[in-house]
Amino acid sequence: ESLLQPCSDLHGKHFAITAGPTRESLDPVRYLTNHSSGKMGFALAAAAQRAGAEVTLIAGPVSLPTPPGVKRIDVVDARQMQEAAERAADLCDVFIAAAAVADFRPERIAQEKIKKTDDSNRDTLALVKNPDIVAAIAARCERRPFTVGFAAETEKVLEHAKGKLARKNLDMIIANDVSEADSGFNSERNRVTVIDQTGGTELPSSLKTELAEQLIQMIATQAFAQ
Ligand code: CTP
Ligand code: CA
Repeated sequence: ESLLQPCSDLHGKHFAITAGPTRESLDPVRYLTNHSSGKMGFALAAAAQRAGAEVTLIAGPVSLPTPPGVKRIDVVDARQMQEAAERAADLCDVFIAAAAVADFRPERIAQEKIKKTDDSNRDTLALVKNPDIVAAIAARCERRPFTVGFAAETEKVLEHAKGKLARKNLDMIIANDVSEADSGFNSERNRVTVIDQTGGTELPSSLKTELAEQLIQMIATQAFAQ
């Protein structure tokens, strides 16, 4: 075996990965979103593909090139992302939720541009909760893939991440502190702790591309352990 080959061969395995933000329309010209760049999810897709896996990448609105050999499905809002994720999850062995899904969307989308002169628009913005995409997939009884989430936190990082691991019934969660300057949302680098039922492993700060390789290996080891 060549030293240039990745150590784990994911040939025949199918990964589905969500990435980027979602965008929730208010009216024809405005929307709610967040600062997610999509870099971590795209790096994970590239790493899984390089390791030999078939990869479906479900991407919110981001300005990133599609990694070579990856099947990309572009979506805009959370409900479109859920539809694409549910379809991909029917076929995949591993589902990784790296997207920063908007938790809420405007209750209704105005047909015409909202006018500032209309005082009824000034005080409140009625929101409804979006579906939890990864929790729905992890709650499956049939065709449940090995399911991995991310937890982007600004405080009590491990506590919140462990809560999400349990609440969403995930197999693994990758926690990161997005309040740190060089970690998380718009950075090239990331520092994460990988948490599963057995405990946590803190990884050193790395480029997202390098971290992605390591995370794919750790996920594969857990997902495909006999
Ligand atoms: N997630 C998802 N669908 C949502 C919200 C979150 O699939 N509607 C996924 C994210 O992709 C991530 C994980 O759930 O893998 C945790 O997301 P996060 O925003 O940290 O957690 P929430 O449960 O939304 O809680 P909060 O934002 O209040 O911390
Ligand atoms: Ca959230």
